[in-house]
Amino acid sequence: MFRNKTCGELRLSDAGQEVTLAGWVQRTRKMGGMTFVDLRDRYGITQVVFNVDTDAALQEQANHLGREYVVQITGKVAERYAKNQELSTGDIEIIASSLRILNSSDVPPFTIEDDTDGGDDLRMKYRYLDLRRPAVRRNLELRHRMAFEIRRYLDSKGFLEVETPVLIKSTPEGARDFVVPSRMNPGQFYALPQSPQTFKQLLMVSGFDRYFQIVKCFRDEDLRADRQPEFTQIDCEMSFVEQEDVLQMFEGLVKHIFKYVKDIDFTDPFPRMTWADAMRLYGSDKPDTRFGMEFVEIKDLTGGRNFAVLDDAEYVGAIVAPGCAGYTRKQLDQLTEFVKRPQVGAKGMMWVKVEDDGSIKSSVSKFYTEDDLAKWVERTGAKPGDLILILAGPTMKTRKQLCELRLEMGSRLGLRDPQKFSCLWVIDFPLFEWDDETQRYYAMHHPFTSPNPEDIHLLDSDTGAVRATAYDMIVNGNELGGGSIRIHEAELQDHMFRLLGLSEEDAQYKFGFLMNAFKYGAPPHGGLAFGFDRFVSILAGLDSIRDVIAFPKNNSGRDVMIDAPSAIDDTQLDELQIALNLK
Ligand code: AMO
Repeated sequence: MFRNKTCGELRLSDAGQEVTLAGWVQRTRKMGGMTFVDLRDRYGITQVVFNVDTDAALQEQANHLGREYVVQITGKVAERYAKNQELSTGDIEIIASSLRILNSSDVPPFTIEDDTDGGDDLRMKYRYLDLRRPAVRRNLELRHRMAFEIRRYLDSKGFLEVETPVLIKSTPEGARDFVVPSRMNPGQFYALPQSPQTFKQLLMVSGFDRYFQIVKCFRDEDLRADRQPEFTQIDCEMSFVEQEDVLQMFEGLVKHIFKYVKDIDFTDPFPRMTWADAMRLYGSDKPDTRFGMEFVEIKDLTGGRNFAVLDDAEYVGAIVAPGCAGYTRKQLDQLTEFVKRPQVGAKGMMWVKVEDDGSIKSSVSKFYTEDDLAKWVERTGAKPGDLILILAGPTMKTRKQLCELRLEMGSRLGLRDPQKFSCLWVIDFPLFEWDDETQRYYAMHHPFTSPNPEDIHLLDSDTGAVRATAYDMIVNGNELGGGSIRIHEAELQDHMFRLLGLSEEDAQYKFGFLMNAFKYGAPPHGGLAFGFDRFVSILAGLDSIRDVIAFPKNNSGRDVMIDAPSAIDDTQLDELQIALNLK
């Protein structure tokens, strides 16, 4: 056997045992006649001692070990004189009697420790070394445990994991497809699935009543901290269900995982908020409900004082920042700068301070009397010591800006603790989203989402007002998952395609297989998909999903370690009968 113990398991009770360990040299320290080596493997770090008095040649050999050398060490477990409380093995050390170098190592480009000196780019280039760092390893361990438990849970509920193809047909809606040329079918392309959506619906037609899959999805879209071009979904679908059944089932899964990973019991049902309320109160379809600071509309209190900014605004919204009346000019200027950044896009910000003595100060006191402002204070519920921040403009745009300001204030006030969790369902999304640029409707979720039965009569007359039977699970302001009840009648699906501007030929060309399947007895069905990377990163309290993916891409969609994407040979292009026309 190469080793009979790991570097993480030896304790004081093992003292006196002869053991063999194998691992990487984290570091060596020479102190007088002693050389200390910290030996690391997946399970932990164990201190090994080489003593000149016991074996001078062996100690000399140890003195030449470099960082990240791979070694096998045999020795006796002994109680440590200077114990290290930080290490689980900190009570013991190994008095080495033999040392075998299994492999040497170049000096690594950064220290392999949680608190590393390596920058992001360097760590991504040498990701295999980065993955030796315990913090990164722990994230992957959590990911494994969660995937395992999710499978166990869904299996216990009768879900079958079925794999669906990765080379499929290109039918872009929403994000762009990644495409793959087919050598055997020159001029034709596969697409990588943005999700297994249509396949899981076909599985329902096939009678597999409860399906799930932990599955890679691919989307060619702009990347952010919570978006990767390839990411993993926990994709689920059920037959003979209504929205309530789906919400219950998957709320159960999320609660189970919170209990399993964080030992958090969510005893109450998750709150449900309509999309309209989420936009009205938080300016977002994924509100961070770890803190209040809900929007208050004050448009009706602001008119008629010859202040054009507010008189002309379609919407005037306020939030109350508790205890912030003491904000200095500089702090207020900073907030104004924040809302004026191109990412937020507001023209300016107004404020009202309710001083401790109840008196009111405001950036717009030129235009409004003390009585006017007192009405704003009353409406917003601001208390002495509070600061009211106000934005004005077109309704939807201003709500989004106020959302950014609210989140910024939440962060500044320490109200967004990553170890506190607030989950909710957002329901009653609109079915369609109008796009000014292309002058057409898009499906807000996807084209297979069923309209709310109460609104079906509005499909042609008031298309934009139709609500979908769609839902999102939101955790701490992140969209953890989303889904819908699907259309299962060929006729309604056809109607939907028409409203989305697809001609009959287009719909046949892209989704003929699904429309055909629906002719053969499609059961009522619905489901959802969770972003698995997001789920893991939220539970790990991380900002970016990259930290929970073994080999992630950077923000330009590159894998800098393997240097992909890359050019391919002319012979490969010839075989594919593809000529490049680079601009
Ligand atoms: P949707 O597009 O909402 O729904 O995706 C489901 C969940 O997947 C995660 N997600 C992502 N995670 C990382 N990187 C990305 N680029 C990315 N895009 C999405 C999010 C999101 O909530 N087929 C439907 C589901 C259904 O209707 O059943 C779908 O894909 O957490």
